[in-house]
Amino acid sequence: MTKEKIIELLNHGLELEHAAFVQYMSHAEIVDGTTTEPVIARLKEIANDEKGHQEKFRTLIGALGGIPSIDFAPRHPATNIKQILEVNLKDEKTAVDTYRKILETLKKEKTKGYYDHLLEHEIRHILMEEQEHITELELLLGIQGKSY
Ligand SMILES: [Fe+2]
Ligand SMILES: [Fe+2]
Repeated sequence: MTKEKIIELLNHGLELEHAAFVQYMSHAEIVDGTTTEPVIARLKEIANDEKGHQEKFRTLIGALGGIPSIDFAPRHPATNIKQILEVNLKDEKTAVDTYRKILETLKKEKTKGYYDHLLEHEIRHILMEEQEHITELELLLGIQGKSY
C-alpha cells in the first residue's frame, strides 16, 4: 500500500474526529427538560477524548509527510437528549467500523517496520476508546449494550 493511501485513510479518520468533537461540544450546550448535569459532563469528557484522537491522527499523518485535513465528516444535528445520544451512538459505530477497516488494511501489509507497528497500535487504542464511548452512550440511553 502506498504512503499516500495510508495518509488518505488517516485523514478520513481525522475528519470523523473533527466532526465528533464539534458535535459533542455543541450537544453539550443543548439543554432540555430531561437533560441532566452528569450527561452534559459526560458529553464534554467524550469530546475531550475526540480532541485527543484528532491530535494523534495529525501526528501520524505528519510523520508520514502528509498534510492533516482541515475538513469535517458530516455532522448530525439533534435537539433533545434522546436524539443527542442516538445520533452520537450511530456516529461512534461508524467510527468503529472505519477504524476496523483501517486496521484490516494495515494488517494486510507483509513487511512492517517500526512505524507500521506504531500506527497499528495507535489506531487500535483509538478504536478501543470509541468502543468505550459506545458503552457509555448505551448506558445513558438505558440500552442493554452488547459489545460492539
Ligand atoms: Fe474519536
Ligand atoms: Fe468517540
